[in-house]
Amino acid sequence: MNIIRKIVRHSEYTAEMVIENPSIARSARAGHFVMVRFTPDCPRIPFTIVDASPADGTFTIIIHKGARLADLIGSLHEDYRIGDVLGPLGQAFEIRNYGTVVCCGDGVGFVPIIPVIKALKQAGNRVVTILSEFTSETSCLRANVEPYSDVILHSSEEMATLELIDRVLTDEKVDLTVITGPTPMMKAIAECTRVRQIPTRCILNMVMLDGVGLCGICRVMVDGKRMLTCIDGPVFDAHHVDFDQLQNRQRHFV
Ligand SMILES: Cc1cc2nc3c(=O)[nH]c(=O)nc-3n(C[C@H](O)[C@H](O)[C@H](O)COP(=O)(O)OP(=O)(O)OC[C@H]3O[C@@H](n4cnc5c(N)ncnc54)[C@H](O)[C@@H]3O)c2cc1C
Ligand code: FES
Repeated sequence: MNIIRKIVRHSEYTAEMVIENPSIARSARAGHFVMVRFTPDCPRIPFTIVDASPADGTFTIIIHKGARLADLIGSLHEDYRIGDVLGPLGQAFEIRNYGTVVCCGDGVGFVPIIPVIKALKQAGNRVVTILSEFTSETSCLRANVEPYSDVILHSSEEMATLELIDRVLTDEKVDLTVITGPTPMMKAIAECTRVRQIPTRCILNMVMLDGVGLCGICRVMVDGKRMLTCIDGPVFDAHHVDFDQLQNRQRHFV
């Protein structure tokens, strides 16, 4: 249980791990995450369940650009038994055939959107993936979404993510937008889709302590109500999230 069966290091800061845990593998859905404490000295950190194989009793996580986790990533190896893995946690993403879905993620924020892209494609959607901040460091993530994306676009310095998404929304009829990444970017995209009346879900990346609703650190205001990202999220209606309040709270933990 909780044994690392496979580890692929894409860079010093990015590693993909297949972890044995039959119970998590059986119940994981797109949108779920796990709280992992790799060593007794480590805090519990949330990681998205990127993939799961009930047949093998395993699930996959990707630690991406975990700059302060570099030493930890270097010390982990196959057959290592992780002390503490809690999950699956959070609410699953509502997967159905929406039509055309634009999925946009940035840097670290891109990992939580990977299982959603896969599940939306398998449900019959046309998926347009926007991978912002495309560099050699993020290119390893492309392989995870390529088979499930009808189109993959990269933003660059010349064409910022917001401009790119605006162009896509102008060029085609979009039925749903899914966004992750830095809060200012999500806020700007949510404004852009609100004007166009396109339903938009955001996947929030909050600091978490317990992951089960006890500490309140991951709270966020949604539609004027106090919600917990670990219990009620991490997926929310982006047109109802108070991104200003969220940004203020996140500043406390930088
Ligand atoms: C629901 C959810 C799913 C996520 N899924 C992924 C994923 O699949 N892959 C991924 O790489 N990242 C994911 N994150 C972000 C991840 O939890 C960390 O923010 C990130 O990996 C830490 O990177 P860092 O070492 O650069 O730490 P920094 O951001 O520099 O933070 C320093 C230290 O603070 C602690 N810390 C940072 N963020 C958190 C956090 N959210 N909760 C508790 N402690 C934290 C860690 O000890 C970290 O080393 C997710 C976050 C959430 C809320
Ligand atoms: S992490 Fe403690 S309430 Fe969500």
